[in-house]
Amino acid sequence: MMTYIREIAKHEGKEVTLKGWVANKRDSKGLAFIILRDGSGFIQCVVSEETIGADNFEPIKRLTMESAVELKGTVVKDERQLGGFELQVSEATVISIADEYPIAKKEHGPDFLMDHRHLWLRSKRQWAIMRVRNRIIFAIHNFFQAKGFVQMDAPIFTANACEGTTDLFATDFYGEPAYLSQSGQLYGEAMAMAQGLIYTFGPTFRAEKSKTRRHLSEFWMIEPEMAFFDLDMDMDLIEEFIQYVVADILAHCKVELETLERDTTMLEKVKEKFPRITHNHAAKILRGEVEVNGKNALKMLEQDTEDAKARIEACKTEITDREQKIAGGTLKKGEINFNQAAIDRLKNEIKDLESTLENIPVWYASAKNFADNNDFGGSDETILTRLFGTPIMVYNWPGEIKAFYMKADKNDPSIARGVDVLAPEGYGEIVGGGERETDIDLLIKKINEHQLPMEAFGWYLDLRKFGNVPHSGFGLGLERIVSWLCKLDHIRETIPFARSYGRITP
Ligand code: 4AD
Ligand code: MG
Repeated sequence: MMTYIREIAKHEGKEVTLKGWVANKRDSKGLAFIILRDGSGFIQCVVSEETIGADNFEPIKRLTMESAVELKGTVVKDERQLGGFELQVSEATVISIADEYPIAKKEHGPDFLMDHRHLWLRSKRQWAIMRVRNRIIFAIHNFFQAKGFVQMDAPIFTANACEGTTDLFATDFYGEPAYLSQSGQLYGEAMAMAQGLIYTFGPTFRAEKSKTRRHLSEFWMIEPEMAFFDLDMDMDLIEEFIQYVVADILAHCKVELETLERDTTMLEKVKEKFPRITHNHAAKILRGEVEVNGKNALKMLEQDTEDAKARIEACKTEITDREQKIAGGTLKKGEINFNQAAIDRLKNEIKDLESTLENIPVWYASAKNFADNNDFGGSDETILTRLFGTPIMVYNWPGEIKAFYMKADKNDPSIARGVDVLAPEGYGEIVGGGERETDIDLLIKKINEHQLPMEAFGWYLDLRKFGNVPHSGFGLGLERIVSWLCKLDHIRETIPFARSYGRITP
């Protein structure tokens, strides 16, 4: 019976047929151990020359990595295997023999891997990340659909900027200038006045020439927009939404998170309430003027310096110890290799610690001198979330650094009723949103101040003339949340084929 690895537990003790690719192969006398992957999972398959006969075993010996095979055999429980089962093969058919596979087991640099992204996607880690991404998308739709939100598709070709004019991709629309959409929000606002509760889920484009581990030129954004919601209701929904998605991933992506060796301690804490602090309060925390649960931002960085220095000394001592052991001449070859590998790891750790030590003064200065009207840098976000240990919501921003559509605060018009959610573990901003300005005169003033073309916003201003109501929304960057939940070093691994500054192929 033809089946998939995902279903294998149902067939314990029975004979099944699997079709897939050789992810790895180990040979020993008369035996071949194949790690087969079929897209739905990975399983060890044992082929014995004695069982299938010498003639049938010959082609198995020639199987290279990524060759395709059809394997028939009995499903046997084996606790030591990931997934808990192995296949004892009785019949093997080669579908294709692969050329020498360029992605070997040895370490490759990120550029090499990104150049081979079309193949890299098959590796176990990438497989797991794409499955988490898929499940996050599913959970997002489930969350909003269950609440009666209507999904809408916003246009990609747009005539005007939404978030700011500096980072637009310009294109040509029948001879007229047009831009790739930075955000579906303004269209979402129009739809919310028709449907009440809506969300967009589509590709968005940002042209800033940024090479950070958080930036893509093309990314997917979820943008809900809710009629009759103020900022507090907006924040309640954001919190419930993120808690729902994280709980769903913890429940349904256990194998994937294990494959990624994701320590889920911090993710378990997401069910606690997210602290809500104003931007002004966050600035005071960064400057070390107020503490968080007895913890001071600047003192924490001073402690980091001490800790890094101590750890470097410890690494150096261990390296000397191991070098002396090797030099002693009594170790077996395996033991020498083991110690040498440990030394290499320690040297890398020292390198990382030294670069941290170089960076801390920069982070320290950024925090200590943080101006009240400043936007957070990456290190500022990391400091804030480390102090709290959970996602946090920073609201009430200086209006001058936020988009034109944000509602001005009743009591202090220089304050915008916006909110950013900062994820812990160094991931920073994953959500940006807020309440929208409903005062048409203020909006016109802001559009002028931002030097945006008024004629392009006629339709948007109509929303304030016909059935004007308070409303709010937010945007979640899909790749930012994938990156955080999988605890990746870089956002380029969160999307099948990343588009970023300097990368448009494959
Ligand atoms: O904060 P942003 O720019 O907000 C908006 O676009 C609003 N119109 C959203 C709304 O209120 N409807 O972007 C929202 C989120 C960010 O918090 C971040 O998660 C993600 O989109 N994002 C990016 N992700 C990857 N690469 C980039 N270059 C990103 N820029 C923003
Ligand atoms: Mg933002």
